[in-house]
Amino acid sequence: MTIMPLARRGITTSRLILGCMPFGGGWNSNPITNEDRLNAERAVDAALSIGISMFDHANIYTMGKAEETFGGILKGRPGLREQIVIQSKCGIRFADQAGPGRFDFSKSHILAAVDSILQRLGIEYLDILLLHRPDALMEPDEVAEAFGILKAAGKVRAIGVSNMSPGQIRFLQQALPDQIAVNQLEMSLARLDWLDQGVHVNQTAGVQVNFSEGLIEYCQIERIQIQAWGPLAQGRFSGRDVANEPAHIQKTAELVSQLATAKETTPESIVLGWLMRHPALIQPVIGTINPQRIIACQDAERQSQLMTREEWYTLYVSARGKNMP
Ligand SMILES: NC(=O)c1ccc[n+]([C@@H]2O[C@H](COP(=O)([O-])OP(=O)(O)OC[C@H]3O[C@@H](n4cnc5c(N)ncnc54)[C@H](OP(=O)(O)O)[C@@H]3O)[C@@H](O)[C@H]2O)c1
Repeated sequence: MTIMPLARRGITTSRLILGCMPFGGGWNSNPITNEDRLNAERAVDAALSIGISMFDHANIYTMGKAEETFGGILKGRPGLREQIVIQSKCGIRFADQAGPGRFDFSKSHILAAVDSILQRLGIEYLDILLLHRPDALMEPDEVAEAFGILKAAGKVRAIGVSNMSPGQIRFLQQALPDQIAVNQLEMSLARLDWLDQGVHVNQTAGVQVNFSEGLIEYCQIERIQIQAWGPLAQGRFSGRDVANEPAHIQKTAELVSQLATAKETTPESIVLGWLMRHPALIQPVIGTINPQRIIACQDAERQSQLMTREEWYTLYVSARGKNMP
C-alpha cells in the first residue's frame, strides 16, 4: 500500500490540493465582492464534492483577500475546519516604503505573518506553514526559534518549504527539531526541468536545465512531501487556446485529448495523472476555481494508476519537444 509522506507525519489528506491563489478577486486593495465570495464558495464545494480535503494558501495571495474569503466560508460552515488540512505560506514581502520586493525569514516577520494568517482565516492553527521562497539572508536558528514559538503556542503543526534546493533544505533542517514536511515546486507537462535535470546528467544538452540537482530524489529519501504548483500548466493541455504556443505544446495537447477520449476520462485527469504516476508521490496543487474544471480532476489518481510507462514517456517526450538523449 502507498503511504504518502504527509501521512507518515500524521497528516492525512487527499492526494489533490485546491490552490486558493485566485480567491478574493484581484491582487489589489479593492474590497472583496459578493461575486468573489460566491466564486470561492463554488470552488470549495466542487473540491469537497470530489474528495479534496486540503487547501493551499499564502499570506500574499490577492493581498490577503484569498485567506479572508476562505475564512468567510469556514465561518459559515462550523465543523469544516476540523475536516480539512489548511496550509499557508509566508516569507515574501511586497515592495513598500521600507524596501523593494524581498524575502524575509526573520523571526519577527514569521511570527507576525502567522498571526495575520490565522486572523484572516479565522482559525486557531495552521496544519502546515510553508516558507514561500528562499530568503538569501536565511538564518536557520532564527527560523527554528520562530517555529518553536508557533508550535508551542499551538498555532502551527508542521513546517515546510517551497521552491527550495536540497542544500537549502538541509541547511534549515539541521536547526529544526521537526522534520521539514513539504517542498512545493513548479512541475507540469509544461515545466519539465525536474525530469530533464535527471535525464541529462553527463550531457551538454542539460546545461540549459534549470533545476536543483538531485532535488526530487532528496525529497524522496527524506520523505518530504513534494507538492506541484502549476500542475495543470494553466490549462495548456486541457482546453485552453494554444494556437500561439509552440508546435510541441499543440501536439501534446492533442495527445492528451486523444488519451482522454480513449480512456473515457478528462484531459485534466490525464495531465494530473501523468504527474502522479511518478514514484515521488507528488501532490498536485490545482489552481483552477472553475467548478467544472475542478470536477474534471476527479479521475486523476485512477488515471495515474492506469497509465503505462509507454504512455507516460509518450507524453513526456512530446512535451519536451525532443527525443530522449
Ligand atoms: N509555491 C509557489 O511559489 C506557488 C506559485 C504559484 C502558485 N502556487 C499555488 O499553486 C496553485 C496552482 O497554481 P497555478 O494556478 O499556476 O496552477 P494551474 O492549476 O496549472 O493553473 C490554474 C490556472 O489555469 C487556468 N486554467 C486551467 N484550465 C484552463 C482551461 N482549460 N482554459 C483556460 N484556463 C484554464 C485557471 O483558470 P480558471 O480558474 O478559470 O479555471 C487558473 O487560472 C495556486 O493556486 C497556489 O495555491 C504556489
